[in-house]
Amino acid sequence: MRREEGKGDELMKTNESLLTARNKNVPQGPFNVHPIFADRAQGALITDVEGREYIDFAGGIGVVNVGHCDENVLRAIEDQIRKYIHTCFHVVMYEPYVALAERLNEITPGDFPKKTMFANSGAEGVENAIKIARHATGRPAIIAFEDAFHGRTLLALSLTSKMKPYKFGFAPFAPEIYRMPYAYCYRCAFGLEYPTCELHCAYFLNDFFHTHISGEHVSALIVEPVLGEGGFVVPPKEYFKILQKICQEHGIVFIADEVQTGFGRTGRMFAMEHYGVEPDIMVMAKSMAGGLPLSGITGRAELMDHPQVGGLGGTFGGNPVACRAALAVLDLFQNEDLLSRAQRIGEKVLERFKEFQEQYPIVGDVRGLGAMVGMEFVIDRKTKEPGTALAKRLTGLCREKGLLMISAGTYSNIIRPLMPLVITDEQLEKGLSIIEESLSELHNNTQH
Ligand SMILES: Cc1ncc(COP(=O)(O)O)c(C=O)c1O
Repeated sequence: MRREEGKGDELMKTNESLLTARNKNVPQGPFNVHPIFADRAQGALITDVEGREYIDFAGGIGVVNVGHCDENVLRAIEDQIRKYIHTCFHVVMYEPYVALAERLNEITPGDFPKKTMFANSGAEGVENAIKIARHATGRPAIIAFEDAFHGRTLLALSLTSKMKPYKFGFAPFAPEIYRMPYAYCYRCAFGLEYPTCELHCAYFLNDFFHTHISGEHVSALIVEPVLGEGGFVVPPKEYFKILQKICQEHGIVFIADEVQTGFGRTGRMFAMEHYGVEPDIMVMAKSMAGGLPLSGITGRAELMDHPQVGGLGGTFGGNPVACRAALAVLDLFQNEDLLSRAQRIGEKVLERFKEFQEQYPIVGDVRGLGAMVGMEFVIDRKTKEPGTALAKRLTGLCREKGLLMISAGTYSNIIRPLMPLVITDEQLEKGLSIIEESLSELHNNTQH
């Protein structure tokens, strides 16, 4: 069998043959959600090596908000690779790094002087934000949250909450990390209900200073505006303002991890804009550079300038090709009204997911902010026992019908669509219908 007629004598690769080679040569640790291999991708569609086309509701885990292989991004990349691919910013500087920093300083929340540096991944962005906060405050401790995900490098993994599979077997972790519950209203750690709770989970930070770590030893509080990996959990609107005010009272740097929420996913460029909060430092990555690895750390100039010359950096950080791609992504957000599109996608998904919740008892909760809408599965609505296997089976059923999805949550029981924002109405409708059909099958099977 030939891969494509007239394309030499290359043997056709099947998903199965590639999977066999993958299993032989690549360790199991780097996980795979779907047993398929990509041949090409465009917009919101991925075609596998066997020619089967899928609607992409995963977006490479929230990385291709502007779509796969956008022409403008491709042009920027092509233009840059013909000039130079790498000089290392620390050896010979280049304009795209500075131009991107300038754009991010302008568009991130906060009308105060800012500076930006770049790294390669979300985890590296988080590590740098913490380094800067520790240096600037001279304090060791960090406050992070239950159900948080901040990456897989040692410090980022230590900040991450989920044990299996992320942390299991990788101890010892970085010290001086203190963890408090997040505003996960569906599973409130305090057994309260919004709004009668009067945001106890936010004010709990004051108690925390008495029971866990003194405020004057804390350098930073790091928090996701909406839990990503933790299951698309959206806190009440007052939550972050309260946390930030308490941080300010204790001289604690407020770090927003916008790695998954950023770059338009929630209908605003950054999710903290919904909450009217201006973080001292913001971390961005994922959809920044249209699929190339890049992260940005933007913060108050006086904090960012605190570490000494040479205290921050890395060989590949702020690669020029990735910076050019990111500039093209920012142009797309400016010219294509992708933020309104995110809002409209979110409204549609939320409406359909709410209908599913009415119809199927296995859907315990539905919540969302912009196009970040989560559907949480439970075995029983009363006990809220997580429906981990249900989410897994749903993802598998959807794939069989041509839709790629991923799950999330500490118990992996939440479906989290991260479709490219350029998805057409037709593709979106089709994807949602596939979820509905699959849910119906799943429901019928659980009735027996
Ligand atoms: C909120 C958040 N922070 C950090 C990270 C880590 O990013 P990376 O996988 O690029 O290291 C992720 C990845 O999913 C994330 O969602």
